[in-house]
Amino acid sequence: MRQSSLVVVANRLPVDDTVAPDGACEWRRSPGGLVSALHPILHHTPATWVGWAGGTGPAPSLPDVDGVRMHTVALTAEDVREHYEGFANATLWPLYHDAVEQPVYHRRWWESYQRVNQRFAEAAAEIAEPGAVVWVQDYHLQLVPGMLRELRPDLLIGFFLHVPFPPPELFMQLPRRAELLLGMLGADLVGFQRAQAAHNFAQLCAKVLNVPATDRRIAVEDRVVRIGAFPVSIDMAEMEQLARSPEVVARARQFRADLGEPQHMILSVDRMDYTKGIEHRLKAYSELLADGHVKVRDSVMVQVVVPSRERVEQYQVLRDRVEHKVGRINGEFGRVGEPAIHYLNQPFDRAGLAALYRAADIMVVTPLRDGMNLVAKEYVAARVDNTGALVLSEFAGAAAELTQAYLVNPHDLDGLKLTLMHAKEASPGDVTARMGAMREYLRAHDIQAWARSYLTALDHTGSLAARLTAD
Ligand code: F6P
Repeated sequence: MRQSSLVVVANRLPVDDTVAPDGACEWRRSPGGLVSALHPILHHTPATWVGWAGGTGPAPSLPDVDGVRMHTVALTAEDVREHYEGFANATLWPLYHDAVEQPVYHRRWWESYQRVNQRFAEAAAEIAEPGAVVWVQDYHLQLVPGMLRELRPDLLIGFFLHVPFPPPELFMQLPRRAELLLGMLGADLVGFQRAQAAHNFAQLCAKVLNVPATDRRIAVEDRVVRIGAFPVSIDMAEMEQLARSPEVVARARQFRADLGEPQHMILSVDRMDYTKGIEHRLKAYSELLADGHVKVRDSVMVQVVVPSRERVEQYQVLRDRVEHKVGRINGEFGRVGEPAIHYLNQPFDRAGLAALYRAADIMVVTPLRDGMNLVAKEYVAARVDNTGALVLSEFAGAAAELTQAYLVNPHDLDGLKLTLMHAKEASPGDVTARMGAMREYLRAHDIQAWARSYLTALDHTGSLAARLTAD
């Protein structure tokens, strides 16, 4: 087995299995989320990505993706049910997102979570060369840093949490809270999206484990674990280039024509997830239609919802509720050939998304809680002419950086309606000044900058970070 000096460990491999025009199965780099966040970094150094290819059964052997070796971890149907859909997405996910849905606790799920984490740790231990950097990602794998340290104390281990880390009042609910904290503390550096999350983690370590902890350092046995905030970003250059391409410009124009050349095209793009505030947003929009502040002919709303975690019960219930609401709104306010809301429940390719971003005058991103929200950043990246208004929830990690957005508390329906109207009626000068400032910020804080800052902090010698950015 060939070993690597950089190993990324994430629940998913950065590939999707697609069907080519001739019917053959093809693996393609997947867009969006964590995958697009890490892709440009891995491009620069010989690396291996350890992850799950989706599906169950034996691990497929995959070709390299842009020079990155793919190492597949197989999950059985039971692992998927109990580790991925269960402990990760029905226990940790709702708990970490302010318990906006009730977290579910099952002891069997915990057993499975441990087993699967051990499998990932063993795969990484096998592949990492002596002294390698291993970067473990996200809430599915919180035990991996501790397990890996047991197996390979020579490694430099990083852990980054892409989702929020909750305040002690919520985290204390977890039956296996001490083990989860100790698992993360197996890393040399634990990174979060926001400083508040690092603070929550330090408080919990002090309280649950009774160890000395500040918002920067935590002492465990004979080691010091560093913690900090490293807000993740997007590949700004890639999105700008896509948004400028003639194909995307033409598709954006076509979208607007298909929508009847409205004065205001309002767009939302979310995974189908109860954390995204889709229902709150639909309610606010329907009230604006009912009040007469928004008229169907002048304004159209396009709500793209990308299917997600479809076998988890809370997600199925949410889909029914959203579709019921969209149906009611269109039934009440739509006209023949003019729905109030254009609702699309389907995945979109990158060019399609870029065209939607380019077409939309107002982008509404109003999650109830979100680790970062890369859609908000992608919209800014796609607005190459500095136009477009971003309405952004205060509860998205992105709000700490995109401070010139029209910020809103999505729980406050009147506030949400007012902010939508404010964005809709803003002067072109205001819109351009805000968008220009956010674009400038993102140019300096793109995905490369994120990786550089995290890896520089992880690797004191700085040699790894230097290699990663030398093209
Ligand atoms: O935000 C956390 C995250 O795991 C992202 O990395 C990912 O894009 C998204 O949620 C959906 O993840 P999945 O389809 O693996 O559940």
